[in-house]
Amino acid sequence: METYVVTEITSSGVGLAYFNRPEAYNALNTAVIRQLVAALADFDADPQVRAVVLTGNEKVFAAGADIQEMSSLTPMQLFAEARFALWDRIATTQKPLIAAVSGFALGGGCEVAMMCDMIVASESAKFGQPEITLGIIPGAGGTQRLTRTVGKALAMEIILANRWLNAEEALAHGLVNRVVPVSNYLEEAIALAEKIASFSPVAVQLAKQSITAAWQTPLTEGLRFERHNFYLAFASEDQTEGMAAFLAKRTPHWQGK
Ligand code: CAA
Repeated sequence: METYVVTEITSSGVGLAYFNRPEAYNALNTAVIRQLVAALADFDADPQVRAVVLTGNEKVFAAGADIQEMSSLTPMQLFAEARFALWDRIATTQKPLIAAVSGFALGGGCEVAMMCDMIVASESAKFGQPEITLGIIPGAGGTQRLTRTVGKALAMEIILANRWLNAEEALAHGLVNRVVPVSNYLEEAIALAEKIASFSPVAVQLAKQSITAAWQTPLTEGLRFERHNFYLAFASEDQTEGMAAFLAKRTPHWQGK
């Protein structure tokens, strides 16, 4: 079987996953998504990994779901294989997940980037949902996540009129965290992941969960969720250590428990 997702772990606790299907512009066939989901599950299970960066190459993050693979599918095949249930698992990654996007992030590629917690874009990044040109609509969350991120009017234009956003536009509309030169977008994403990896892994995951709840629940429920996670942080050794270190004016040593 081809290796479509290559992984490595840096010495500073960052898990890296690269899409590796350049001949098809990293088109996301089932094997690619399966390998990505497996890689993310491995990172989640590995205490050495504290934050994850997902990337493609300079030219393309991913040009969408594999049109060749999808072209002859029937509704019953899509239903039977619960096609996007697998994709949904990307968004349930427990550890912080940063997309480092250069070049095309289209269709399912844009949707996967939006499943990540943050996006670092290179100056050449292009975001779009061109499904309308194929006679379909986004199927991996695009109509929902994009609308919540950039607002209804622009989401309508991107999805109904195939409007693409360049990196600066994506930044202006809150889709990405920052725009950096192509020469160092990956380093920048790794540096951001390393910064996160330097804090208590327990607190980082509780904070990620709580922010995610802000997207998925009404305010009262989100506030209750945050309160619960705040109290839970006090069950961790990292809370004791973090506060003791502050009071003793020394650097904390996180245990991740
Ligand atoms: N699926 C399958 N193959 C793809 C692909 C895709 N999504 N995107 C690119 N490729 C393949 C091309 O077929 C081509 O292969 P060959 O060399 O074997 O012909 C190769 O990648 C390079 O592509 P191009 O020759 O088209 O390169 P380009 O530089 O002229 O254009 C592009 C680049 C603008 C990204 C163009 O390839 C393109 O428009 N791709 C499709 C984008 C798209 O429509 N994505 C949405 C897919 S549907 C979806 O994602 C549904 C969902 O919600 C999950």
